[in-house]
Amino acid sequence: MRILLVGAGGTLGGAVREALTERGHKVIGVGRSGGDLVADVTDPEAVGRLYEEAGALDAVAVAAGDAVFKPLGELTADDFTTTFRGKGLSQFELVRQGARHVAPNGSFTLVSGIISEQPIVAGAAASAVNGAVEAFVRAAAIELPPQRINAVSPTVAEESLPAYGPFFPGMETVPAARVATAYVRSIEGAQTGQVYRVW
Ligand SMILES: NC(=O)c1ccc[n+]([C@@H]2O[C@H](COP(=O)([O-])OP(=O)(O)OC[C@H]3O[C@@H](n4cnc5c(N)ncnc54)[C@H](OP(=O)(O)O)[C@@H]3O)[C@@H](O)[C@H]2O)c1
Repeated sequence: MRILLVGAGGTLGGAVREALTERGHKVIGVGRSGGDLVADVTDPEAVGRLYEEAGALDAVAVAAGDAVFKPLGELTADDFTTTFRGKGLSQFELVRQGARHVAPNGSFTLVSGIISEQPIVAGAAASAVNGAVEAFVRAAAIELPPQRINAVSPTVAEESLPAYGPFFPGMETVPAARVATAYVRSIEGAQTGQVYRVW
């Protein structure tokens, strides 16, 4: 398959790229600062240009999305806007525009995260956007067929512990390679409207 992978240069995205490439897929990696194609997917016009440049696609997968982590009492209105633009609206837009570019039997795989269900201190904005992504996936799944859509909801990756570890005391971790298997399941499988928890 020809797969557009947003965030292919990141911790999770690198593992997803490796897993998909090993399975014989052609991965077109997207990042803001580098990759096979460069785009900031928080900009709807950039998403449009990205799809024009990418050409025919069988799947779109996302392993990207910035969220603001701050105690609730310190979060600003702008922090919520930044978080929803960074991880929510960007993914919704990739699906909204992508439905015209992805093959009829193709798929979308979005990313949420464990804190939609298992909250942490300073994670209110990120929890909320993860929940929105999962709700969007369930809703879009009834309108997209024959295209499919799922979300991957990982716990903290082992590789991310140095960066995020203090925020997730006592939470189990998984190798990024295990998160990547959920992307493979979403892309190569037949289910739609699912949230694949990896924890
Ligand atoms: N890592 C974890 O433990 C974990 C656990 C649960 C959920 N998640 C979620 O998984 C996603 C990826 O996490 P990660 O830790 O792998 O991130 P990461 O290592 O920081 O990598 C993110 C990648 O996405 C790209 N990217 C970010 N924003 C983008 C944008 N607006 N447009 C285009 N590309 C963009 C970055 O490109 P540039 O470097 O070029 O900017 C980078 O390649 C995030 O949504 C995160 O919340 C991660």
